[in-house]
Amino acid sequence: MQIAIDGPASAGKSTVAKIIAQKLGFTYIDTGAMYRACTVIARRNKIDYGDEAQILAAVDHDGIRFENIDGEQKVFAGNEDITREIRTPEVSANVSQVSALSGVREKMVSLQRQMAGQMNVVMDGRDIGTTVLPDAEVKIFLVASARSRAQRRLLDLQQQGIKSDQTVEQIEKSIAERDYKDSHRAISPLKKAKDAVEIDTTSMNITQVVDAILAEVAKKQKNI
Ligand code: DC
Repeated sequence: MQIAIDGPASAGKSTVAKIIAQKLGFTYIDTGAMYRACTVIARRNKIDYGDEAQILAAVDHDGIRFENIDGEQKVFAGNEDITREIRTPEVSANVSQVSALSGVREKMVSLQRQMAGQMNVVMDGRDIGTTVLPDAEVKIFLVASARSRAQRRLLDLQQQGIKSDQTVEQIEKSIAERDYKDSHRAISPLKKAKDAVEIDTTSMNITQVVDAILAEVAKKQKNI
């Protein structure tokens, strides 16, 4: 089974996707982390964020992989653990540019399909229901107000121990800018798939969102 969870930045996708994967015994695939890893690789190799050929060569050379260590999903570029680095504001500010490159998308989408072909997955991102897994049995589109998403992002950064002197207002502005870029790019922009179920999480807690998605999964399982 394939469960696709799409939506704008900080709508709670990864938090609920992880819980659902754990409850169902599925594998969680964080596709945003893959584009963030490409951005880190560009940064570390001092490659311009618009230089597709060089970024692709560096990604090929280093290789991006997920590893489960003590129940936590870690992201590696080569032998380097970049799990924390992919969440820094510098990476968040530049990932939209890198993820808009057609060659980068082609490579990541192909990797994502390969992973989803081998196991039951919960995959979150921007184009999972529309492009990566158009036949996913369950498609969810999570939305929330920009302010509540900024508040969640700030809390996330604090919990991960990432220092940031950004205010909620600044984070909200950068989230809104990223949403604009992600939904206006030429290739597979952020968009609700026709057959996706939209859930507004602004005034919902995590358990409520998880339960709403599990209810959709149960409906589909009945029909299979
Ligand atoms: O979910 P996230 O904030 O970690 O994603 C980081 C960026 O990666 C996001 O701004 C756009 C891009 N992305 C994408 O283009 N397609 C995906 N399937 C997932 C993320």
